[in-house]
Amino acid sequence: MKFFVDTADVDAIRELHELGMVDGVTTNPSLIAKSGRDILEVTKEICDLVPGPVSAEVVATDADAMIEEGRKLAEIAPNIAVKVPLTWDGLKACKVLSEEGNMVNVTLCFSANQALLAAKAGATFISPFIGRLDDLNLDGLQLIADIRAIYDNYGYETQVLAASIRSANHMSECAKIGADVCTAPPSVIKAMANHVLTDKGLAAFLADAEKAGIKIV
Ligand code: E4P
Repeated sequence: MKFFVDTADVDAIRELHELGMVDGVTTNPSLIAKSGRDILEVTKEICDLVPGPVSAEVVATDADAMIEEGRKLAEIAPNIAVKVPLTWDGLKACKVLSEEGNMVNVTLCFSANQALLAAKAGATFISPFIGRLDDLNLDGLQLIADIRAIYDNYGYETQVLAASIRSANHMSECAKIGADVCTAPPSVIKAMANHVLTDKGLAAFLADAEKAGIKIV
């Protein structure tokens, strides 16, 4: 499973990238606003740092304007994936931008039917938001499983990009289901390393090492 980092914080991306944990990056208007930086400038910096797909989202709502914005975003770097919302206009923009040779990430997906439409419109990635479904007491992971099954049934090449990840448990569950990609905040990726038994075991080993005076260098 590929790891994308869901942030526009360049320092946080760099730290994870140096460890080989970053296959791509996703941003959205809220994350760009949080960075306090110009969208074109910060996205270019991210694209220069990470060779994998970097999603940058349009802010227009009608298809023609989304296409215009998408073309401008795609000029930033060859690894841009233009992100469009899963609306009827977004699907139109997805079709045109995909046919022009751009990667397109269709975002704000909350149902299997929406994912089917995105695949037929030529999306490179579909982004089902599992955390926001869980917030409503719905089953986000079940949506990932449903989309995986549907795409496999018909051989759609659109990659399932699990988004709105809230916990390390979401990551392993998505990997078990077979999501192609998970995009998660840096804090969630780091939390995957944590286990209480690791901490407890390490404390015991270190105490024994100190008692025995073990020194290596
Ligand atoms: C994905 O591309 C989105 O940027 C993101 O995962 C949304 O997550 P949120 O629901 O935590 O805002």
